[in-house]
Amino acid sequence: MIIIILCVILPSRKAESVGITMSPIDEQAIKDRLTKTCPCRVVTRAAIKEAIANGADTLEKVRAATGAMAGSCRGQRCRSSIEGLLEQASWEKDLEI
Ligand code: FES
Repeated sequence: MIIIILCVILPSRKAESVGITMSPIDEQAIKDRLTKTCPCRVVTRAAIKEAIANGADTLEKVRAATGAMAGSCRGQRCRSSIEGLLEQASWEKDLEI
């Protein structure tokens, strides 16, 4: 538990200096859980990525799955980030084929 807290609190270089190593994938997963892509609805980047991985391939589907873009700003602050995640997922999917 303490190690996890240290990994989250300390930037990776500092964590490494105290003998803690994290893979880039672990570090990204932690950042995704901590990043509020839609602050109005407190929807994390991890939740949006999970929705996309589960088939939400449009903004409407992401909204339905997560509640993102349904907050007080109606997506003005989060829409472009979500579009970026959708584009990234599409691009990664194309590379897999
Ligand atoms: S930040 Fe997502 S609805 Fe406002």
